[in-house]
Amino acid sequence: MFRKDVYIDRRNRLKNKMKGGIALFLGNKEASFNYPDNTYHFRQDSSFLYFFGLDLPNLGGLIDFETGKEYLFGNDFTIDDIIWMGKQPTIKDLAIQVGVENTEPFNHLGNYLRNANNQERIIHVLPFYRGDTVIQFSNLLEIGHTEAENYVSVDLIKAVVELRSIKDKFEIEELIKAAAVGYKMHVTSMKMAKPGVIEQEIAGTLEGISLAYGASLSFPIILSQNGETLHNHYHGNILETGRLLLTDTGAETNMHYASDNTRTCPVGGKFSQKQKDIYNIVLNGINHGISLTKPGVTYQSVHLEVAKVLAKGLTELGLMKGNPEDAVREGAHAMFMPHGLGHMMGLDVHDMENLGEDYVGYDQEIRRSTQFGLRGLRLGRRLQPGFVLTNEPGIYFIPDLVKKWKAEKINASFINYDKVLNEYSDFGGIRLEDDILVTETGCQIIGKRIPITVEEVEETMRS
Ligand code: GLY
Ligand code: MN
Ligand code: MN
Repeated sequence: MFRKDVYIDRRNRLKNKMKGGIALFLGNKEASFNYPDNTYHFRQDSSFLYFFGLDLPNLGGLIDFETGKEYLFGNDFTIDDIIWMGKQPTIKDLAIQVGVENTEPFNHLGNYLRNANNQERIIHVLPFYRGDTVIQFSNLLEIGHTEAENYVSVDLIKAVVELRSIKDKFEIEELIKAAAVGYKMHVTSMKMAKPGVIEQEIAGTLEGISLAYGASLSFPIILSQNGETLHNHYHGNILETGRLLLTDTGAETNMHYASDNTRTCPVGGKFSQKQKDIYNIVLNGINHGISLTKPGVTYQSVHLEVAKVLAKGLTELGLMKGNPEDAVREGAHAMFMPHGLGHMMGLDVHDMENLGEDYVGYDQEIRRSTQFGLRGLRLGRRLQPGFVLTNEPGIYFIPDLVKKWKAEKINASFINYDKVLNEYSDFGGIRLEDDILVTETGCQIIGKRIPITVEEVEETMRS
């Protein structure tokens, strides 16, 4: 946990942004796996962690924007719990750790909320993403489940997004720790990428590293020699010489700050010339993205500039044709990169997406495009110092997509479909992903950069 004044300050800044009413932050509960007492790894709600810091189930945090009072609702453990769990702090002890003055048993929360409701005070909540929280909230208010959504507050969403978007120095220290674990995971993946190894042997080892050095993975591992499938969670293939292994993985620290990196390496340790040609286009793309990332520019423009680097490289190889600028304007490059350049990262690997992707990544000025590819960009708005985001271009050969575009003659003037289908159908995909902090003047990669050039990757795989 951070020092208590970090949480006091965050709540005070939220109070300054909100005009009235009360905000309720329900912490998460344990979620059952296959029978009630066999639970998934507990994950606290990230906004609860941000404002109330406590990484335990069954808590509620409440801020009254009119009186300024803050409350922690929760039940003290009984001797029956302590027999199984060991000695536990009281709710009062927990509240003191995060600078909250008032504590109440959890069953007082319903009364508090219903009184507020009866007085027609606004109860602000963030969007729900777990069914049990909807049930809990509607039971507390004695309303129907479908009415819970009515309490989701755009004012609260916007205020929380504004605060959480700017990472402070304590958060950046945590992100650097997460990056260090991610570094170990990725270097391990490169070293293990030998013919005959089953993907799950690597995936399991990487997850073990995340657990050994922190809380867990920041998202389920994407690791496959079929890297053209963007989120490939199947890990049953046996690695073969001549294939590319794409590893997209990251760790959460014990404080739940994330890393999220992707590297692609040649099974067996040596890139072929054909692989190098595509790899270096993606590498130029990620490096160009970094060179453009600074306060004041929109990430949508960075995405489009990186797309031009990819289109130019693919045109030089004869896979695309025509003017790369025109191709990008028409969205032709998106057949090779159907996703966005990146997303915010912090307490969530896709930070705050439970609050609504467009509240996090877009605003009045920059609206999400409807064009295939660009519409997948999760962060488009103007960058500010303190933003933490990913830069993750890729080039993928997805035969079904190519065949569909060819059949429908989509962007036919910019793509050499036959060359793509005849020569690259079994190529796979390449993605490279770094985590970036926007600084006052530009940006920096968080932590030590994971080996990325052809030479660095081959050297790491050899060593
Ligand atoms: N966690 C998948 C990605 O956004 O890179
Ligand atoms: Mn990733
Ligand atoms: Mn990512």
